[in-house]
Amino acid sequence: MKLTPYSEHCGMVVEDVQLAQLSDDDIAALRKVFAEHGVLFFYNQDLPPAEHLRFAQRFGTLVVNRFFQPVEGFPEIAQVRKEKTQTTNIGGAWHTDHSYDLEPALGSILVARQLPATGGNTQFANMYKAWELLPDDLKNRLEGLQAEHSSTHVYGEDGYYKSTDLGKSLNLESEVGEAVHPVVIRHPDSGKKALYVNPGITVRVLDMPPEESRALLHEVYACVDEAGVYCDFAWQPGAVAMWDNRSTWHNAKNDYQGEFRLLHRITLAGAPLQAA
Ligand code: SIN
Repeated sequence: MKLTPYSEHCGMVVEDVQLAQLSDDDIAALRKVFAEHGVLFFYNQDLPPAEHLRFAQRFGTLVVNRFFQPVEGFPEIAQVRKEKTQTTNIGGAWHTDHSYDLEPALGSILVARQLPATGGNTQFANMYKAWELLPDDLKNRLEGLQAEHSSTHVYGEDGYYKSTDLGKSLNLESEVGEAVHPVVIRHPDSGKKALYVNPGITVRVLDMPPEESRALLHEVYACVDEAGVYCDFAWQPGAVAMWDNRSTWHNAKNDYQGEFRLLHRITLAGAPLQAA
């Protein structure tokens, strides 16, 4: 297994592996690399839906995303799909999957199925590095705080997607959720501290007036932006991205209007998060 950084602070390309043919030792090695780096990229994978599912099941327990349409015959695999005629995409803002759940998803495994000629990259951000690079004064103010995360403003009856041309292809009548998590978590596998608020899903910091909460989150996101802890993953046929939702954000770029894009996503179940 050969590892090469994708960018200075985010993402690791893993070579010399076929995800459909891993030994138990390979899976154990991959688990360590995954916990340490948070985002792994693989190229030239032969991973049809049945193999995608088998790999995910070997890696962890699955959770079914209640808002996305499943792949026919594979209820555990969600379609991340944008038609040529749709202008809105799924996940087109910085977010962390399922942070609105009481037990947020551990991670996701996304497989390229049909790509636009250009564009449609997915950006990732490293929340271990983001935490590390925050100014000390801000770190001191964040430690011990808790924040509320919600899916209501995104997937709810009056949420963002409902008013878009993607609304009809998502299961927006599914139950929305709210959850409270520590703002700084201790990653259960790596033991490292990670920043756990994100622009898409975190709605407020608890125990402070709304204006103060907004200002604090704004300050944090501005620092993350400035720290440059991102990468911009250019998909290729046969590419797979696997990310840890406890230590990353992601953002699907929507710069391929008039073209079709389809990826298949499996989400891995997580556990309640502990404060750092
Ligand atoms: C997502 O899982 O948020 C979508 C990622 C993508 O389409 O690139």
